[in-house]
Amino acid sequence: MARIRSKRAKIAVIGMGHVGLPTALGLASLGWQVLGVDCSPELVSRLQAGEATFYEPGLADLLQQHLGKNFLPVQDLEKAIREATILFLCVGTPQKTTGEADLSQLEAAARTIAQNLNSYKLIVEKSTVPAITAQWIQRTIRRYANNENGRKHLDRIEFDVASNPEFLQEGVALDNISRPERIVCGVDSDRAREILEEIYRPLSAPLLMTGLSTAEIIKHAANSFLSMKISFINMVADLCDAIGADVTKVAEGIGMDPRIGPAFLQAGIGFGGYCFPKDLRAFIYLAEEHGVDFSLLKQVEAINERRSELFVKKVRNALWVLHDKTIAALGLSFKPGTDDTRESPSVRIVDRLLSEGAALRLHDPKAMPLLQKVFPPQEGRLTYCDSPYSAAQNAHALLILTDWPEYKLLDWNQLRATMQLPLILDGRNLLDPATVRSAGFEYISIGRPEAPGFQGTASSV
Ligand code: UGA
Repeated sequence: MARIRSKRAKIAVIGMGHVGLPTALGLASLGWQVLGVDCSPELVSRLQAGEATFYEPGLADLLQQHLGKNFLPVQDLEKAIREATILFLCVGTPQKTTGEADLSQLEAAARTIAQNLNSYKLIVEKSTVPAITAQWIQRTIRRYANNENGRKHLDRIEFDVASNPEFLQEGVALDNISRPERIVCGVDSDRAREILEEIYRPLSAPLLMTGLSTAEIIKHAANSFLSMKISFINMVADLCDAIGADVTKVAEGIGMDPRIGPAFLQAGIGFGGYCFPKDLRAFIYLAEEHGVDFSLLKQVEAINERRSELFVKKVRNALWVLHDKTIAALGLSFKPGTDDTRESPSVRIVDRLLSEGAALRLHDPKAMPLLQKVFPPQEGRLTYCDSPYSAAQNAHALLILTDWPEYKLLDWNQLRATMQLPLILDGRNLLDPATVRSAGFEYISIGRPEAPGFQGTASSV
């Protein structure tokens, strides 16, 4: 049985986006020769010039470290397929208006692979895809390889398809790659299993081998479950708001139960980003398509969609009329540690406040250059500011929309002195209520009582 020995085989990572580039550099760090393939000439030349194409902590340094040595960005997909033995598919799987995943980039990649099969290939699906996509890739490769002028004979040229879903979190992606909590590989041959074991062995992380569709479902189920945790705690937050309890303590209390766990119980303005909203819709669509009533997940989605409107309502309750009010909004990315604003609840809130006639002064440590391209500044209405202090100037309220840690460390006295009203609405429960209140602010957050009594602390007895 053929094996992939001692990293002489090349890996091609197809798609140099938020998943592909960190994956490629992670594999290069493990000592593999990696071709990073993308169809965008502009993106490839930026990578070739050593420029990280998006912000991710540590990414620019890692690129510098491997570029031209064991990482080569290239545009020629056909050549990369012929040169490489292992092909990681990291192309986009955007969503259609129906919620269904658009798999056209994967299908195109599978066809190109079929037409360039010159030796054994292991095709590893890393993009998040609905169950049975791996089978479609297999079928597509067989069909097109057989049809290519009748020259290829699949009985002579073998290939395997594997599913190896990624669990990267933007902002800590490189850490997730070098120290993964688990690695899931869906395979249907020993050869694929052995190759993937060889690739991942140095990471000494728990490796779960499953069938193809099981691995695909694990990815969607994990993201849907985490989204469910967030929507759950957000509903608890609304109840805490109504009753005067503290959701952060409720989260702490339930999170101490190892069956629940403390992660992803941070209440706020809801989840965003390129993954959760899209994957949730795709999972709902998949269930519907197979006649399974997964309406639980529809609720998770509906709760999340209401979060931004609920927060705008809090702003309205505090300021009454928003027209002609100046509002400072801190944080635009969908979470800290990234410049990504896709499906960001912060942007939804900014948009909503603008439509109510407020003047917005925005700040984000990383996301402003990208956002300005799609959301251009408007004289006197929408201003991008180079610091939180500048954003707060003459503001009637200051909103925390992304939990960037640096916003915790602001000089509250300096901020208060520049604002028209000392009012903070914290959409992420980032700040310590006592600190900002003692600096003279009225402070409104999510599911935390506005006039706290004894809030308690966790201690061991
Ligand atoms: C998510 C998953 O966490 C990764 O495991 C997965 O690999 C990735 O999607 C993907 O499918 O590619 P990511 O989108 O980078 O990662 O972001 P998360 O850290 O999961 O946060 C998602 C959203 O949930 C953010 O808007 C965040 O602010 C929000 N969130 C998170 C909360 O509102 N509360 C929490 O307690 C946690």
